[in-house]
Amino acid sequence: MSTLVVVGSQWGDEGKGKVTDYLAQEADVVVRSQGGNNAGHTITFGGEKFALRSIPSGIFNPKIKNVMANGMVINPKQMLEELRGLEARGIKDYQLFVSNRAHIVLPYHEMLDGAYEAFKGDKKIGTTKRGIGPAYEDKASRIGIRIADLVDPELFKATLSQTLTIKNMELKMLGLPELDFDTVYNEYVEYGKQIKKFVTDTSLLLEEEIEKGSKILFEGAQGVMLCIDHGTYPYVTSSSPTGASVPLNAGIAPRYINNVLGICKAYTTRVGEGPFPTELDGDLAHYIRERGHEYGTVTKRPRRVGYLDCVALNYARRVSGINYLALMLFDVLSGLDEIKICYAYELDGKKINTVPATLSELERVKPLYVTMKGWKEDITNVKSFDELPLNAQLYLRKIEELTKTEIVLFSVGPDRLQTIKLKDIF
Ligand code: IMP
Repeated sequence: MSTLVVVGSQWGDEGKGKVTDYLAQEADVVVRSQGGNNAGHTITFGGEKFALRSIPSGIFNPKIKNVMANGMVINPKQMLEELRGLEARGIKDYQLFVSNRAHIVLPYHEMLDGAYEAFKGDKKIGTTKRGIGPAYEDKASRIGIRIADLVDPELFKATLSQTLTIKNMELKMLGLPELDFDTVYNEYVEYGKQIKKFVTDTSLLLEEEIEKGSKILFEGAQGVMLCIDHGTYPYVTSSSPTGASVPLNAGIAPRYINNVLGICKAYTTRVGEGPFPTELDGDLAHYIRERGHEYGTVTKRPRRVGYLDCVALNYARRVSGINYLALMLFDVLSGLDEIKICYAYELDGKKINTVPATLSELERVKPLYVTMKGWKEDITNVKSFDELPLNAQLYLRKIEELTKTEIVLFSVGPDRLQTIKLKDIF
């Protein structure tokens, strides 16, 4: 048995989809354990680009069992559309398993997500408006509806009837139109029928796979800095995208987690609002954004960009149990004279090496930088560490030094073939 958790170690969009797809070639099982269709994992192979939202990245390989585990919030309509979209592009032969304990996202969740954001005005979170927060709220309030309810028409009727009564009161209070029970029920009960064939106890399935000695890849969504517990609260998502959350969200024992691979870009990006100490603007931000195609997969918003923040990365390593790193989008930095890396923050005149808990402190920190020499060479065809220009090698080694973590893989372009493995950890 070998397990590997892939987590985003920044604010999401680090290229987890690409790494997962690359490592999935060796996996027997790929598991998504949290989040929902707020994620957007881009995978490119054979010159074709696929954007996955809630379906695990192993879906392209018919030999891989893909699991959507209990910690996810699944939008049945979107999930079926995503599957139809893949089928239309020839991905028809796949194995998909959906946890009977995962919660579902319904239209009122999306409406409430939008309404809360509008209510917050300039304090808005900048959510993806996919209803993720409100769905997790219902889960915690114990009025959520689970996949097991959805696929049983009688159970679904009972749970929806109770929940919709409450949700309609909320919608009315916020000045939104109430939803008609029959309309929602009739539409979603149909989705339930189509999803039923995928539904199972995925915890049991994973235990069987572990006992068989399978290779299991856990594909994180979002990033550690967006974690509901450890992220830059309240500018976070509503689940925990850390290595620590995987056993809970997939129903397996913590002792089965062998390694946690943190995915990080060679720089930093963030979508949505919230503090971002190393944020850049002007020409350099533009250069990185355009070369890195830094526009959201889900919402198409231009991403905020900045220098690599090793304070945040080190923090992510600690709270998420990251023991290896993968460095993504390395080629984007080619052509610069110099590149800075943040190695510490200064807060009110004092040097600190961790992420403070409050937004006001985080907004006040001043990044302290080490300046590295850039490289002019195009590195998109590099096949090994030794082929990298010396300054690129030094940049990579500096990150290892500042994060006390070995980089086991780096990426120099979107294609599967532009991935250079330095060490086998799976
Ligand atoms: P929500 O997850 O839609 O509630 O959004 C909460 C915050 O997480 C916002 O700042 C989003 O932009 C961010 N977010 C959610 N999913 C992703 C993702 O997959 N990549 C990057 N940011 C994300």
